[in-house]
Amino acid sequence: MSDFAVRKDWMPFCLPDVTDAEVEAIAAAVRSGWWAKGPRTIEFEKKFAEYVGAKYCIGLNSCTAALHLALVAAGVGPGDEVITTPLTFAASANTILHVGATPVFADIDEDTGLIDPDEIEKKITRKTKAIVPVHYSGLAADLGRLYQLCDAHGLFLSEDAAHAVETRYHGELIGHHPRGAVSYSFYATKNLACGEGGALITDDEELAHKARVLSTHGMSAGAWNRYGKGGSWRYDIEEPGYKYNMFDLQAALATVQLERMDDMQRRRFEAVKVYEEAFAGVPQLRLQKTPDYCHHSRHLYILRIVPERLTISRDQFIEELKARNVGVSVHFIALHTMSAYTKRFGFKPEDFKKAYDFSESEISLPLYSTLGAENAAYVAQAVLDIVKKYAK
Ligand SMILES: Cc1ncc(COP(=O)(O)O)c(C=O)c1O
Repeated sequence: MSDFAVRKDWMPFCLPDVTDAEVEAIAAAVRSGWWAKGPRTIEFEKKFAEYVGAKYCIGLNSCTAALHLALVAAGVGPGDEVITTPLTFAASANTILHVGATPVFADIDEDTGLIDPDEIEKKITRKTKAIVPVHYSGLAADLGRLYQLCDAHGLFLSEDAAHAVETRYHGELIGHHPRGAVSYSFYATKNLACGEGGALITDDEELAHKARVLSTHGMSAGAWNRYGKGGSWRYDIEEPGYKYNMFDLQAALATVQLERMDDMQRRRFEAVKVYEEAFAGVPQLRLQKTPDYCHHSRHLYILRIVPERLTISRDQFIEELKARNVGVSVHFIALHTMSAYTKRFGFKPEDFKKAYDFSESEISLPLYSTLGAENAAYVAQAVLDIVKKYAK
């Protein structure tokens, strides 16, 4: 290694942002004695709907649950095709398989990593029922184009907004008066985190009712309060539903995190500024572009190496970062290359070449609100040290 001074401690790829407010909120929820779905979940649902500017929010135990419920509630099922991106986490496409439909991948835009609407258009058939775009890394998918495609072909839009708390499209938050359903994740690594958790947002009353009922076994709405004084022990099972609801300990954390969003986001942006300034103009590195219409939530910091300009591979680059005590990740290993998908559909890596090339050259650097400019500067120097050592 060069004269680069390697820090003593391991720098984690991600850490949650914990203050006394989170600890006190959890303690209060535990002491309240209401541990399952209850008043705190209802309060969070109300606040999150208000925050994004939508009519309905259903608090759930994951974004996966929200993506699944959106398709079930929209009536997508066997024989239908649903278009999504291969540059995503398994949940976006697994849930299409869970409803018995067929996931159809459309390739990405190589500058952003977002699903390409022109590629979607090519994949639309008479069987297509829905589109599941991913607001990848915190960029907004091109919703204007997606609305046009949905209108022209009568398709349901289920936005995967796992990365998109704070993402804006033409100045409005994702989830602001949505067309179909929007699914969020509050998993431990997300901008708004509560360990495990998610939400489904919609302006469609019928869809909201169906998703809410399906999220608690198909019990009639309000059954969560059947043990309370104002509640009733009698309930109906309207549909054979799922056990997907959020509960009050999650909601306690999520509510505090929602209140702290501005401060947490500000600190994410400080770290991003350090990265952007350090990497600008380095020919061995390729930075993610942000479309003009979009405000990036900075959920992930996406760095790509330019393989032709380095003597080491992306995987070796990651090992070099680890040797410098920097924890990194890859978002994502292209989904069409995963064995569950190659076995079922016979995909080859080059079938979605842009997603594959993106995935093979990408490194996600540490990015979280407690990272701090000093740590970000260390990461940036580590990257530049590797570039210097292995530049072609
Ligand atoms: C793009 C995307 N969609 C969906 C999910 C699933 O989220 P959850 O873990 O809340 O189910 C994730 C998880 O990270 C994701 O990255």
